[in-house]
Amino acid sequence: MLKTPSLSLYIHIPWCVQKCPYCDFNSHALKNNIPEDDYVEQLIQDLDCDIERFNLQDRSLFSIFIGGGTPSLFSAAAIKSLLSQVLTRFEHNKDIEITLEANPGTVEADKFKAFFAAGVSRLSIGVQSFESDKLIKLGRIHDSNQAKKAAELATTCGVDSFNLDLMHGLPQQTLTNALDDIKTAIKLAPTHLSWYQLTIEPNTPFYSKPPKLPIDDVLWDIQDQGVELLAQAGYQQYEISAYSKPEFQCQHNLNYWKFGDYLGIGCGAHGKITDSDKQVIYRTIKVKHPKGYLDKERVHLDHLNEVAKDELPFEYMMNRLRLVSAFTLDEYQAATGLPMQTILPKLQLAKAKGLMANPDGKTEQWQVTKLGHRYLNDLLEMFL
Ligand SMILES: C[S@@+](CC[C@H](N)C(=O)[O-])C[C@H]1O[C@@H](n2cnc3c(N)ncnc32)[C@H](O)[C@@H]1O
Ligand code: SF4
Repeated sequence: MLKTPSLSLYIHIPWCVQKCPYCDFNSHALKNNIPEDDYVEQLIQDLDCDIERFNLQDRSLFSIFIGGGTPSLFSAAAIKSLLSQVLTRFEHNKDIEITLEANPGTVEADKFKAFFAAGVSRLSIGVQSFESDKLIKLGRIHDSNQAKKAAELATTCGVDSFNLDLMHGLPQQTLTNALDDIKTAIKLAPTHLSWYQLTIEPNTPFYSKPPKLPIDDVLWDIQDQGVELLAQAGYQQYEISAYSKPEFQCQHNLNYWKFGDYLGIGCGAHGKITDSDKQVIYRTIKVKHPKGYLDKERVHLDHLNEVAKDELPFEYMMNRLRLVSAFTLDEYQAATGLPMQTILPKLQLAKAKGLMANPDGKTEQWQVTKLGHRYLNDLLEMFL
């Protein structure tokens, strides 16, 4: 039986100062001023349409994530207006997690404080590296000192917690370089670290003109020794790329990975909504380009579909197996509405290959092994 899960809200801000050559997110280099007021107005209309479309009037809101692009380009006044309008539409805990992504090249002390006053409780700062030559190669608009300054400001501006985004496997990066980046990050004492391996995405300048990346052996060493360094400093890995101090896991992303519901508003935003009365899961995608999204004659919804039942096992696993923690077969049934037989034989096969395990021999619980995480794509293919 499909049960109604927690509901989160993702808000996409599609502008950046300039486009980084590795990035395939829906973000556009800013040419003129940001049409902040118009965009906030469209976001709220978009939200109201979703609320009506899916009858969400009585559902409470679990978390909010303002991502991009570069949301920190927005003024604190615009973020305040946006959040106050969102929060009047839903019941929510008074300490609801509200994350805002910030680029170190776009912040100063007063702005962080004003974001906090506007309701933001968690900042996620895109640092990528603390080495100047790497930041230049990555086309970043900030230097290492600005990155450190942003982390220091996040410590004192009032927010409950902050994350640093770091990437590794960078052009010409050595093992020592990568571990030094982690050591510098640890000294800045974030409550959370997202540590991504650089991937070369199609349709990016790095794809058409690939930079020289570290060889596989170096990449494995970076991964193994990086995880150990983070663990020694008290950062527990709870997802493929996410590490946190105890109690500081990102609640919004956890809901996403546990196959919770989320509304996605803003350019190109994706959403997933469960209708437990109809026993159906819907997916939505919004109009991608800012010009189209801001066009008052157009509807924001670009795509709506019911997820086919035979796609659900893979969809669930694709999210859930990113997490280190175990899931139960009851959780699988509540999240997908499908009987356990739709995955049990495959889980048993994965166990035989050493990719999944039953923690403490509890057969109703399933956890991905270290080997399973290393070969996650192979593991996921088993659920296709
Ligand atoms: C959508 S970006 C938002 C952060 C903000 N725009 C910034 O860059 O400062 C989220 C994070 O994804 C990571 N990321 C983006 N492209 C990536 C890629 N090709 N490979 C690995 N990580 C990537 C970066 O660490 C980035 O901070
Ligand atoms: S600032 Fe962030 S979202 Fe914008 S292009 Fe760079 S990585 Fe992508």
